[in-house]
Amino acid sequence: MERIDVAIIGAGTWGATHASILGEYDAVRLTGVCDVDRSKAEALAAKHGIPAEHVYTDHRAMLRDCPIDAVSIVTPDFLHRDAAIDSANAGKHLLIEKPLATTRRDVEDIMEAVARNGVRMMVDLHNRFNPPFAVAKASLDAGEIGNPYSAYFRLNDVRWVATDMLRWAAESSILWFLGTHSLDTLRWFFDDEVEQVHSVSRKGILSGRGVDTEDIFQTILEFRKGGIATMENGWITPDSHPCVNDIKFNLTGTRGMFSIDASNSQLITKFTDTKSENPDILVNHFIHGRAAGFAYQSIRHFIERLLDNKPFLITPADAANTSLSILAILESARTHRIVKVQY
Ligand SMILES: NC(=O)c1ccc[n+]([C@@H]2O[C@H](COP(=O)([O-])OP(=O)(O)OC[C@H]3O[C@@H](n4cnc5c(N)ncnc54)[C@H](O)[C@@H]3O)[C@@H](O)[C@H]2O)c1
Repeated sequence: MERIDVAIIGAGTWGATHASILGEYDAVRLTGVCDVDRSKAEALAAKHGIPAEHVYTDHRAMLRDCPIDAVSIVTPDFLHRDAAIDSANAGKHLLIEKPLATTRRDVEDIMEAVARNGVRMMVDLHNRFNPPFAVAKASLDAGEIGNPYSAYFRLNDVRWVATDMLRWAAESSILWFLGTHSLDTLRWFFDDEVEQVHSVSRKGILSGRGVDTEDIFQTILEFRKGGIATMENGWITPDSHPCVNDIKFNLTGTRGMFSIDASNSQLITKFTDTKSENPDILVNHFIHGRAAGFAYQSIRHFIERLLDNKPFLITPADAANTSLSILAILESARTHRIVKVQY
C-alpha cells in the first residue's frame, strides 16, 4: 500500500496515542474518529484535523460513510468484538488493542471474520518491542543460552491504574490488561503453546476500594514441549513504586539465563525536596517532542508492515491463543483446578 486511510474507534487515553503515532506518517491520513462519547471523538478530531462530518458515535456509520483502509480499535478490553467483526466485514485491516477479546465466542467470531474477509489483523501485544526482551529473544534464537527451560515473569501495575486510570477496571481483569502481555511474551520465548495452567488469585484490596476485581493472580504454565513458567499479575503494587509497572523476568535455558528488570532503568533518578523517582525511558515518553518508547513501536510496526506488505511480528493466532490461555487461567483460578487450554 502507498497511502493508508485510518480511522480510530475509541477516543480515550490509548486511542489518542494511536492517533498521534499514526499522524506522524506522511503516508497515513487520519480520516475518521468514533466514540460513544461524542465530546471525546470531537476533541481528538479537532486535534488531528479530522473534519467534523467524520466524527461518529456509531462505528457502523463510520465504516459506511468514511474513506477507510484500516481501523485502530481502542475500546475497553471487553468491547473489541463488534468493532472488529463489522470492520473486517467492511474489508478494513485491523489494529486491535490487546486483548483480542475476552470470551471464547468473541475470539472465534473475530478470527472467522478476519479469515473470511481476507483482511490483515494485528493485536497490540507490544512487549515484543520492549528492548531488553527483544535483545534477549534475539540471543535466545541465536542459541546463546540453549533451549528455554523455565521462566518467571512478574508484570504488575500500581494500584492507581485500577482505582483511578481505568473507569472499567471492574469489568476487566489484570489478566486481560497486563497478563496478555506476559502470556504472549512467554509463548514467544518458548516458541510454543501453553498446554495447561494452574492459577490462584486473591481478591479484597481493590474491592475494598470500590473496584470489584481480583487483586492478583499467581499462575504456573506448562508448555507442550515441556517448558514451565510462573506468571504473576497484580494490580496492587503501591502507588509509591517509582514506575507504573513492576516488571521482572527470568528465563533459564539449558545453557544459560537472562535476567531482566524493566521496571525502571536505574539510568536516571530524579530527586526533589519531597521524593525521588525513576522517570520512564523505556515504555512511553517523549524525546525532543517525539514519542519514544516501545509502546509506540508496535503501532508504527502495524503501519510500516501495511505499507511494505510484509508480515506482522504478531500473528492473529498469537493473539487468539493468548486470549484462550488467559481464559484457561481465569477458569483455573475460579475452580482451583489445573485447566487444559482449549484451542
Ligand atoms: N498498549 C498499551 O500500552 C495500552 C495502554 C492503555 C490501554 N490499552 C488498551 O487500549 C484499550 C482502551 O484503553 P484506554 O485506556 O484507552 O480506555 P479509555 O476508557 O480511556 O478509552 C476507551 C474509549 O472507548 C470508548 N468506547 C466504549 N465503547 C465504545 C464503542 N462501542 N464504540 C466507540 N467507542 C467506545 C469510550 O467512550 C472511551 O472513550 C483497552 O483494550 C486497553 O487494554 C493499551
